[in-house]
Amino acid sequence: MIKAVIFDFDGVLVDTMPIHFITWKKLASYLGFELDPSTIDKMRGASRDKSLAIVLEQGGVDASPRQKQFYAHMKNTWYHYEIKEMTRRHLMPGALELLEQLKEKNIPVAMASSSKNAVHIIEHLSLQHYFQCMLDANDIQLTKPDPAVYLASAKNLGLPPESCLAIEDSPLGIKAAINAGCQCIGIGPEDNLAAATDVYESLEKLEIEKYLVN
Ligand code: BG6
Ligand code: MG
Repeated sequence: MIKAVIFDFDGVLVDTMPIHFITWKKLASYLGFELDPSTIDKMRGASRDKSLAIVLEQGGVDASPRQKQFYAHMKNTWYHYEIKEMTRRHLMPGALELLEQLKEKNIPVAMASSSKNAVHIIEHLSLQHYFQCMLDANDIQLTKPDPAVYLASAKNLGLPPESCLAIEDSPLGIKAAINAGCQCIGIGPEDNLAAATDVYESLEKLEIEKYLVN
């Protein structure tokens, strides 16, 4: 039986992926090329360094470790300007309602993210009271598909991973959750997320009771 829910952040709770894309696109323009819109899906769940590698590869750009650090910093600075403008209108459809529902039912909730900005954005949106535990890439060095962030979240909740339901929007995230031993639901287009137990178009379509009573 599921006793807790562990949410991924980007693309599950908050609609940040278009903002990640716009800011990576800005970096690509600075480097002299146009970023392909399909890149957004390759970046889902990937760490900042991995996402930068995807961008540089697409532009055929060679960069030294120092340059890479500079580019990642530049992108994150632009991303931070965008965070300042973020409001609860940026929440994914159904996210707030689901958090409310879980709170009413006293189901423990955690957040497990590959982003270093996830906790900061949750606090910026004043949503932290919904979470018993929030772990992001500042806390856990190994990012998805490594299971570390899910294992640490379950441990923090005091539950075995098998009792936790992960909600993910990326193949990398689903792999991390499953490798940790969690059950996993995918949110988004089905063809990408086949490894999940069930896939829903959006959180609005998810009937959480179904999982809580099994
Ligand atoms: C993941 C996103 O959650 O976090 C990726 O899906 C992003 O697209 C990664 O690159 C790192 O995010 P940040 O906020 O630390 O740059
Ligand atoms: Mg995600």
